[in-house]
Amino acid sequence: MKRKKIIIDTDPGQDDAVAILLALASEELQVLGITCVAGNVPLRLTAENARKVLELTKYTNVPVFAGAEHPISRKLVTAEHVHGKTGLDGPILDPPKIRLQEIGAVEFIINTVFSHSKEKVTICTLGPLTNIALAFRKEPRIKKLIEQVVMMGGGFFEGGNITPAAEFNIYVDPEAAAEVLGSGIPVVMLPLDVTHKALTSRRRIEAFRDIGNKAGTAIAEMLDFFERFDVEKYGSEGGPLHDPNVIAYLLRPDFYGGRKVNVEVEINSDLTRGMTVVDWWNVTKKKKNVYYVNSIDDDEFFKFLTDRIGLL
Ligand code: BDR
Ligand code: CA
Repeated sequence: MKRKKIIIDTDPGQDDAVAILLALASEELQVLGITCVAGNVPLRLTAENARKVLELTKYTNVPVFAGAEHPISRKLVTAEHVHGKTGLDGPILDPPKIRLQEIGAVEFIINTVFSHSKEKVTICTLGPLTNIALAFRKEPRIKKLIEQVVMMGGGFFEGGNITPAAEFNIYVDPEAAAEVLGSGIPVVMLPLDVTHKALTSRRRIEAFRDIGNKAGTAIAEMLDFFERFDVEKYGSEGGPLHDPNVIAYLLRPDFYGGRKVNVEVEINSDLTRGMTVVDWWNVTKKKKNVYYVNSIDDDEFFKFLTDRIGLL
């Protein structure tokens, strides 16, 4: 089987952890490396959390790289109020034994895209887009060699989650997001408009626990924690499971629906900083730079995710 080669750029985060585990469990994908960025919590913790997540599986040889400590031109905003002090609150996980790679995330991304220029790498982003934009700035030639960027980020019909207008990943580093959306690379966005339809529930969390493997138990404990915040905030039965949609989209695009549209990021206004302005009705006739996903078969998604975690 020809495996799709991916790099996961991430700021774990409980939902990032589930996304990473889904990718590792899926033989259609080859995870070339995990690059970490500051986001939900500072870089030191995201880089540690990514390695803790790998240690829930046998895939401890997947290399992990540390990237940007802060956004390109803004002060870092974090989300401990959602993810807890460690970023991965819920299960008690040992400090990781895996070591960080010596080279940094940006260097790894550039080298890997060049060395896979024939089979083209897909970049999956689960956090702020700082590392990706820095790689483009350092070596713009890689833009032509990337298959696509599939990102969790943005929101339009649902509004935002960190401000009324903006989704967290885009808000934290809006300049980086604007550069990626304007890069000419095909982009798929999994925004809040779809992730707010992928809600956990007691039944869905217990299904992870019932698997009985290390990853399933840790996921159930992470989601027990993660859910508290969202249930209070949204008044729904469960919380949105954002980031795994990126990986699920690659594996099962048939679960999702969307439309090719123009999307631009607001970088000038304080009020709407990081807002993703989606030209859903093509009123501007601007270049359609994004496949914007807005629907999901959530039952199929959770069933698929649980089945795959069972393979770990
Ligand atoms: C995104 O922000 C983070 O808190 C989550 O991990 C997800 O990537 C949702 O807005
Ligand atoms: Ca994330």
